[in-house]
Amino acid sequence: MTDPIRSHTDAGSAEPAAPHTSAVGAADTARPTSLSAIIRGRRSVRHYQSRPVPRELVEQILDAATWAPSPHGAQPWRFVVLTRPEVKARLADAMGADWQRNLEMDGQDAATVAIRLQKSRQRLLEAPVLVLLCLYLEDLDRYPDVQRQMAEETMAVQSLGAAAQNMLLTAYSLGLDMGWMCAPLFCPDIVVTALDLPRTLKPHALLTLGYAARDPKRRSRRPLSQLIIRYD
Ligand SMILES: Cc1cc2nc3c(=O)[nH]c(=O)nc-3n(C[C@H](O)[C@H](O)[C@H](O)COP(=O)(O)O)c2cc1C
Repeated sequence: MTDPIRSHTDAGSAEPAAPHTSAVGAADTARPTSLSAIIRGRRSVRHYQSRPVPRELVEQILDAATWAPSPHGAQPWRFVVLTRPEVKARLADAMGADWQRNLEMDGQDAATVAIRLQKSRQRLLEAPVLVLLCLYLEDLDRYPDVQRQMAEETMAVQSLGAAAQNMLLTAYSLGLDMGWMCAPLFCPDIVVTALDLPRTLKPHALLTLGYAARDPKRRSRRPLSQLIIRYD
């Protein structure tokens, strides 16, 4: 039997309106100002122009993250901003070596592994800015039991997602774009070592930032009717 919660078909799903698309060349950076158009216009970008991003815009994007809701207002996240090619390369090499081990363990052939590693490395080096989003749990409440402690940490992760979305939307509204890479979540210790970060930081996501090289293909969305399980 089909699980009504899990089933997904693209047929009939509403494609979000892409407010600005360009047929050729670099993506159009004129952006909408209404919140709903910004939410629908944001997209994951994986290829960037080499054009640098002014620090003041990067800080505007990070500042938006600070306004996200968080458990007890603790803001349990920290940002590591990388722009220098040699540092980005060091991170890419360290994460790449770990990913290679995992892909080989999965039984992928050498040629496929080499292509995937090369693409991932290129993605990190091509993006003018990388924002490593880390969880920082030191200010959270402490509980004697595992259940409450786990709930506390889950709240911190939920809040990290809210902070990330604030950044993605702000970047988009400023004519920039971002992309989310989950790689650090799979090798947090390697990332901490490669970047010589404090052990209290738990790397969760790498957000690429820059001016899109081209408009990416849009992902469709499930219709709302599939997602509302009950509305009494
Ligand atoms: C927690 C999380 C992890 C993700 N990890 C990756 C990733 O490792 N690589 C990638 O290309 N996109 C990643 N994405 C982006 C999703 O693929 C993307 O958001 C989704 O396909 C919808 O497309 P859109 O963002 O363009 O609307 C991630 C998104 C989230 C929220």
